[in-house]
Amino acid sequence: MQRTLALVKPDAYAAGHHGAIAAKIQDSGLRIVAMKSLQLTVAQAQGFYHVHKARPFFGDLCKFMTEGKILAMVLEGDDAIARWRTLMGPTDATKAPKDTIRGMFGTNVERNATHGSDAPDTAAFEVGYFFAGLDLL
Ligand code: RTP
Ligand code: MG
Repeated sequence: MQRTLALVKPDAYAAGHHGAIAAKIQDSGLRIVAMKSLQLTVAQAQGFYHVHKARPFFGDLCKFMTEGKILAMVLEGDDAIARWRTLMGPTDATKAPKDTIRGMFGTNVERNATHGSDAPDTAAFEVGYFFAGLDLL
């Protein structure tokens, strides 16, 4: 049993796709065990994406992630981290198969609809970044 953090990014949330994305997650057999919508501040986005702070796209990414509301979810299931990343598809939405979430709802390499943790240590940090222990009993 594993937990991972899923975000519906501002592009997909503003387009009204957050409900459809949550439904696809449930249809895949993953359980949504915590869920909330919020709008990040720039400092909160920088803290969340701190591993990317030296990357050329860091400034644009933090601006994008703060442009509107997002939906944050904790997903639970066997192999949840890899299963959610498979469901999302590759980072670049222009290369994502049409049966993946990024293929359906993303636009390009940055505006790609969703986020997913990439390993157990980042999942633990990211789940804790959005949800306190009492939210996850
Ligand atoms: P995420 O962390 O959001 O789930 O995406 P990921 O693992 O597939 O991709 P990652 O390399 O961690 O990049 C984080 C996010 O930064 C934006 N990005 N922009 N302009 C660019 O070349 C570029 N590359 C990445 C995307 O929003 C990506 O999801
Ligand atoms: Mg990543």
